Amino acid sequence: MIRHVINITDLSRDEIDRILDRAAELEPIAHRGSSNILSGRILATLFYEPSTRTRLSFDAAMKRLGGDVIDFGPIESSSIAKGENLADTISVISGYADAIVLRHPKEGAARMASEFSSVPVINAGDGAGQHPTQTLLDLYTIRKESHLSNVKIALVGDLRYGRTVHSLAHALSLYNARIYLVSPDQLQMPDSIKGDLINSGTRITETTDIDDIIDVVDVLYLTRIQKERFPDPGEYQMVAGSYRITNETLRNVKDDLIIMHPLPRAGEIDCEVDASKHAIYFKQSFYGVPVRMAILSMVME
Ligand code: CP
Repeated sequence: MIRHVINITDLSRDEIDRILDRAAELEPIAHRGSSNILSGRILATLFYEPSTRTRLSFDAAMKRLGGDVIDFGPIESSSIAKGENLADTISVISGYADAIVLRHPKEGAARMASEFSSVPVINAGDGAGQHPTQTLLDLYTIRKESHLSNVKIALVGDLRYGRTVHSLAHALSLYNARIYLVSPDQLQMPDSIKGDLINSGTRITETTDIDDIIDVVDVLYLTRIQKERFPDPGEYQMVAGSYRITNETLRNVKDDLIIMHPLPRAGEIDCEVDASKHAIYFKQSFYGVPVRMAILSMVME
């Protein structure tokens, strides 16, 4: 059976824990090491939307495991510019590679691609839908830098369009997390996801004010307001800059609070916070390499 990675809810807690354990085993290789675990294998990376971390950490992960990467580059220089549809592109590229990483602006695109692929498809972000590999690296970060079971976590910012928080909220429900949802009223977590959390027994609290919760949480997870997903630029202007963390904001937080962000940031965290012991968002980006090594080895080994 082909093992696709499309939605975090396709994975059980046991499977997630096994991926995180495998990432921990592989982490020494991610620090300038090499291996031949995936020697002779080819990964195709198809990004229909911009990316720095996801694209390059998949590339680094594959190469550190001894494999190769093909990429169609900017879509203007591929046959997509001539009107080729996603189904045909996937049918063709699955003949060239042993797995495909796909980022696409349309929610559901990765699931659709998996139906046309003869090799595993890994969802690297589908519109405002899901970003399951980001969630796995987020869980790895929380487990390593804080604790996962019973964690008190605030998801802050654009909870409506931010796909990382959609996947993460679902995954946290497997770990008995206490989740604080902090957003402007217009950018609240979709009702369907809140319903799933409540049905799973997860305790959630919604607020617009970060000061209500900042002193009680173990993890502060900030997100960018997803400007590109707003149908009306005027609506974006109304919520842009809603939250901005500075050293002053952090004056009464828990001593072992960790601050995370999937990045890129767009003003949510002042650069002065980078030197704080609480700031672990650059480490979090690095953990994308061992976690994606674990995912690649799971689908291709
Ligand atoms: N976190 C994340 O998905 O970053 P990129 O958009 O740079 O890949």
